[in-house]
Amino acid sequence: MPLLEERSELDLVVWPEDRACDRAWLLDNITGAAGVIVTLTDKIWIAGPSLKVVSTMSVGYEHVDLKAVAQQGLKVGYTPDVLTDAVADLSVMLALMAGRNGGIGTSVVQKGEWKNYSWAPFGFCGPQLSTTSASPKRTIGFLGFGRIAQATLARLVPFGVTHCLYSSNPTSPANHARDAELAAKYKLQAVKKVDVDDVARESDVLFVLAPGGNDTYHLVNEELLKKMKKTSVLINASRGTLVDSDALAKALHEGWIWGAGLDVVEGEPNISVDHPLVKEPRCVIVPHIASATLETRRAMATRAAQNLIAGLLGGQMPAQVDL
Ligand code: DGY
Repeated sequence: MPLLEERSELDLVVWPEDRACDRAWLLDNITGAAGVIVTLTDKIWIAGPSLKVVSTMSVGYEHVDLKAVAQQGLKVGYTPDVLTDAVADLSVMLALMAGRNGGIGTSVVQKGEWKNYSWAPFGFCGPQLSTTSASPKRTIGFLGFGRIAQATLARLVPFGVTHCLYSSNPTSPANHARDAELAAKYKLQAVKKVDVDDVARESDVLFVLAPGGNDTYHLVNEELLKKMKKTSVLINASRGTLVDSDALAKALHEGWIWGAGLDVVEGEPNISVDHPLVKEPRCVIVPHIASATLETRRAMATRAAQNLIAGLLGGQMPAQVDL
């Protein structure tokens, strides 16, 4: 806000609450605006004649219809980089929580049921993320291998990860030089782009960290889940639409995979306690908080304001979407 307020050239109209903006309020107030800062819950697909800049306080921008806004000559800003570490941190947290029964464990304590579970040799056991002498190979898989996936990999190296497999946009070729560099840096036996089915088949933990939108809709479906190891864990910290919720609930219920950790779920935030995934004990769900650290949200807000100001008043946006 100070960045915007110090610009006397700008008249500001500000949604006053710390929650997603009401659609009706947005539509009432956007008329005549030259620029708008939005969040990922504000769908933008058609703009009035005055609008020149859309600045989203998010790294994802599938809520903005890029084709439509490009045709109208708009500029779009977003907030990559500044949230990479926070999202990678939470992805690792979810992997540990889901593998090690963190959800079941906390719920047992909260419900006052700990007394029913005295320490037992195999009580609450789950697959170990770090390698052991009995189990010296760990393969980490990524659907999408951008900044956040690579930051997540970096965090997992001290756990003894041995192999990294990823699949990404089929139209972009593998970056062999970068992969060899990563393998050497982290002393991994492989960093390799492979077919999505092979990532599913081989991974001990599979991270979904690809962009949302039509191209990745239900990338994780029944067919793919059936290919995964029974001891594997699926993590989604990108967009709910990438994972078919019903298929995942079935996979967990029938033991095709061990567990799941989700920061996002399709249809969020309208997820009731009766949702099939909420009912799955080995599914840990948090409410889209991957970037929710004080430091990161301030950095995202700052970047969104800088993008808006540069887009409106001239100058290079710090992070502009290539349209
Ligand atoms: C984003 O910025 O797209 C994230 O989902 C926010 O947490």
